[in-house]
Amino acid sequence: MNLDLDQLQPYPFEKLNALKAGITPPAQPHIALSIGEPKHAAPQLVKQVLIEQLQHLSTYPNSKGLPELRKAIAAWCSRRFELDGALDAETQVLPVSGTREALFAFAQTVVDRTQPNPLVLCPNPFYQIYEGAAYLSGAQPHFLNCIAAKQFQPDFDAVPAAVWQRCQLLYLCSPGNPTGAVADAATLKKLIALADQYDFVIASDECYSEIYFDESHPPLGLLQVCKQLGRDDYRRCVVFHSLSKRSNVPGLRSGFVAGDADILKKFLLYRTYHGCAMPVHVQLASVAAWNDEQHVVDNRRLYRQKFDAVLEILDGVLDVSKPEAGFYLWAATPGDDTEFARELFRAQNVTVLPGQFLARASNGINPGYGRVRMALVATVEECVEAAKRVRRFVENH
Ligand SMILES: Cc1ncc(COP(=O)(O)O)c(C=O)c1O
Repeated sequence: MNLDLDQLQPYPFEKLNALKAGITPPAQPHIALSIGEPKHAAPQLVKQVLIEQLQHLSTYPNSKGLPELRKAIAAWCSRRFELDGALDAETQVLPVSGTREALFAFAQTVVDRTQPNPLVLCPNPFYQIYEGAAYLSGAQPHFLNCIAAKQFQPDFDAVPAAVWQRCQLLYLCSPGNPTGAVADAATLKKLIALADQYDFVIASDECYSEIYFDESHPPLGLLQVCKQLGRDDYRRCVVFHSLSKRSNVPGLRSGFVAGDADILKKFLLYRTYHGCAMPVHVQLASVAAWNDEQHVVDNRRLYRQKFDAVLEILDGVLDVSKPEAGFYLWAATPGDDTEFARELFRAQNVTVLPGQFLARASNGINPGYGRVRMALVATVEECVEAAKRVRRFVENH
């Protein structure tokens, strides 16, 4: 058996189930704020195309994807990230079956196992796929703590040169899961310079980029910063985007990677064997989704309503503020986060995810300790009810 598998940790939700085992919550309806699964309605236009194109169930898709999908994605990227058309649909875009598989597979493409002690750098707390991707590519993950005192951003200035020298791949997550923090232009420019200096690849996971609160200030993307630098070849830079959160279709399994053509050429080769080609009907439904912004604007309006209502209720009882983007609250708990989550479930039948399950101890601290993640994905009414129960719980303890 592959011994690298032994390094994988149980997924956070397995740890959560173990934490809740044996507890009987009160007999009011359960509300899950634990899973980041969008619950708003999937757009009708996507469903319509999917149904109309079901004859493609009889067609094998190819890994590179249809030209019309790659063109729709390139056009979307260009509009959204002000690329002025400088993204080549032929060589700089690839569809992926959700960013999860792509983020995982990407490390296998990038990491050179023949180099001594390769490192994959990633934020901490983090999306657990980065860690598994690092181990199974033959590297070690190196965690960069994201703490409140640093606006939940990794402290890149504190990374020693010896670590940058071993770094082959850097996962960024902006907007961050679970923190909602967004990387600024200065940070991204510095990281691009470091990638050039130490010859590593930046994988920027931007799958929450379309969930933000101020319509006039969408989060910045890595390709956008490349463009500002005149780096039209996006050398060493690849971004990961998804329809799951943007368009409320996590079950469609549709996303894309875009950026450095040389890297994507190798990634396409990898993917030919990997076998995660996107079904043709899913590709055509995805074209419809990337071409439409109205449903995304409507989606953001719902999140805005929810965050405003929930934060008003939690004001004064929990140390929590509106994130820059994304659909999570990253709330500080009075004391241990696992105890908070367990007792909240016991008292109020509300599930939140303990922060320490989303992070690893690094430099002597687990930056998820004393925080919980609350995903505001359910309806406004359910999220408001959950917030009231959290308030009651904190006031009673
Ligand atoms: C940070 C982050 N990246 C990637 C994903 C994967 O999303 P998908 O595979 O649906 O595109 C998720 C899903 O929750 C996520 O939180």
